Amino acid sequence: MKKSNDRSLAGIARIHFQSSRISGLLAILLTLTLPAIAETTRPFQNLWIPPAVQGKSFNLTLSETTQSFWKGATTTTYGFNQAHFWGPTLIFNQGDKVQIDVKNDLAEPTTVHWHGLHLPAAMDGGPHQSIGAGGTWNPTFTVKNNAGTYWYHPHPHGATQKQLTLGAGGLIIIKDPIEAALALPRTYGVDDLPLVLTSRRFLRNDQFSYNGNNDKYGDYLLANGTLDAQTPLPAQFVRLRILNAEIERGYVLGFNDNRTFHLIATDGGLVDKPIPLTRLKLMVGERAEVLVNLCADKPGSTLDLMAYNANQPFGFPGGEPQKGGANGSLLNNLDFRLLRINIGSPTAKPITKLPETLTRNRYWTEADVTNRRTVRVNGNPPADFYFDKQPYDMHAIDQIQLVKLGSVEAWTISNNNVFGHSFHMHDVQFKIIARSDGPVPDYEQGWKDTAYLPRGKSVTVVAKFDDFASNTDPYMYHCHMANHEDAGMMGEFLVVKDPASIDRQSRSFRELFEHPLTPELIAAANRQAETRAPSFQATDLTGKLLRMDSLAAAKPLVLFFIERDCPCSRDAAPFLDRLQTEYGESCTIVGVINATPEVAAAWVKRVGAHFPILADPTLAIISAYQARRSVFTTVIAPGGKIVKTYPGYSATMLTELSTSLASLVGVPVRSFSLDGAPKKLTAGCVFPLR
Ligand code: C2O
Ligand code: CU
Ligand code: CU
Repeated sequence: MKKSNDRSLAGIARIHFQSSRISGLLAILLTLTLPAIAETTRPFQNLWIPPAVQGKSFNLTLSETTQSFWKGATTTTYGFNQAHFWGPTLIFNQGDKVQIDVKNDLAEPTTVHWHGLHLPAAMDGGPHQSIGAGGTWNPTFTVKNNAGTYWYHPHPHGATQKQLTLGAGGLIIIKDPIEAALALPRTYGVDDLPLVLTSRRFLRNDQFSYNGNNDKYGDYLLANGTLDAQTPLPAQFVRLRILNAEIERGYVLGFNDNRTFHLIATDGGLVDKPIPLTRLKLMVGERAEVLVNLCADKPGSTLDLMAYNANQPFGFPGGEPQKGGANGSLLNNLDFRLLRINIGSPTAKPITKLPETLTRNRYWTEADVTNRRTVRVNGNPPADFYFDKQPYDMHAIDQIQLVKLGSVEAWTISNNNVFGHSFHMHDVQFKIIARSDGPVPDYEQGWKDTAYLPRGKSVTVVAKFDDFASNTDPYMYHCHMANHEDAGMMGEFLVVKDPASIDRQSRSFRELFEHPLTPELIAAANRQAETRAPSFQATDLTGKLLRMDSLAAAKPLVLFFIERDCPCSRDAAPFLDRLQTEYGESCTIVGVINATPEVAAAWVKRVGAHFPILADPTLAIISAYQARRSVFTTVIAPGGKIVKTYPGYSATMLTELSTSLASLVGVPVRSFSLDGAPKKLTAGCVFPLR
């Protein structure tokens, strides 16, 4: 564990106790034990309102930038369209055909997912719609959803936590005739306020930390990317569109005077009529639109939107009592302010009363269900969480759920487990029809795409899988806690016209999800033989500079190209470790992985490889070696000639590799045991061509 909250402790100590005579240590102890952080001593900052853009064609450019959250400090961030954290709010009209030019100006791959939107899987922006560094993507789709609050965010498998933490994301507001006909506040940024809630941990060097489970909870609340946010709101009915954009923390929302407010929309749009509440649970990925009656509030007075997160049941994300470390943060198990509201004078045409009804939803019920399935959560920390014992794997063709187009399915997600999760499905809006721990609360009665899954409980949701079928492009379901998702708590489903027609073992189906050795790939590998190895120089994960020519100057070099999602790469890695041990200093083995350094580090942690690893997210080295799907192993002779390129990983290939090394080094073949090799490896990772 890095000393990640040194920044925070030091910050608080400095800010609150600077001029007092209390010693530094005592100050820290006080900070740790005082139940409420004395946030009030830091000045409020004005809530940033993301610019809204409207129309049918949109441009989004994601780039790295910086933001100054603290005086004199610069934090590296990501933002869309020049925002220094987060991005513009896209306003769509129901029925419009929209077109979006997405440009990735990052130095790593990303994707942009339209969370909550019902659209073809190929336009969904999940992990399969990768946009390479410097690349563009041009999705186009018809807006089918109801008026409501949705959002967009990156979804590159294994790097979602990093990119979200750095600030990549934005809201989507959909408008439709039903909502437009209601007397509701809808002046963006005036009486209709976007409110994106998250929290961040700062390292001592002022940078965000996004190290998996260690950084699931931030120490400082950011509202629309603003620390200690305040905003003016007029003394009338106002609408808050709230998104929980956290990595893992949940919120129990309420106001500091415990006033009643009204929920008018859930994830998928308006509820039938306003639902009065004093508290509202909003978990990661969920949205809520609420109406707050400020009519009787005096201009000049203040009101605070709070997170009443103290004393939550065990398993509530962010309820752990620790103030630091992997499971703790300065905001854990606390009631804390999310937004200071400064009441101002009413606007010219204020909304002064609550609509009695909003819309008439026709929800799916038990009676509509044509098929059911169950998804089980596995894993107990420190092991990662998975669904159905299977970490997310683009190869796991047995795990892909096949859903029949037009079916109404009930999915029961059961969490017989130590912790709570936030379950999200792409493609559909569902109705929560049952919870194992009692009735479905009022605030969950609307359309949802994300549902809280408390520890030890199960939830059943019903959705219709309509309109979009594809035998090739899957949708995702996953835990929306980005650290859990990145670590593999994700699965995929295909919506197909005829599930019975899908033969999972057929070549065409497997080619979509595996990396079979097609004749083209084999030809590419063969072309490499006896050519000079393309040169490169790159820094490995430990920060050491590796140069191709010096690596292969005097001894054989093995480049092990790793497909990050390939179980066969993972299976083969320990045997390359064994080879390195056998041949010792007389040869060099280097792994090259098609992933960002963060994902590469997670891969190394998972497989326990000891050879140096080069992260190659832009595929610079991989393409130079024509290892297109990254399932190659290239042997380079001293001096730099390629001896052989092996496609795929298998026992045969490993044995041959050992023979080849022995002859290059000029030693007898070392006995090389394949004991403990998984079946898939002994049989060969690639399936035979039929
Ligand atoms: Cu917010 Cu898979 O999505
Ligand atoms: Cu989870
Ligand atoms: Cu494989």
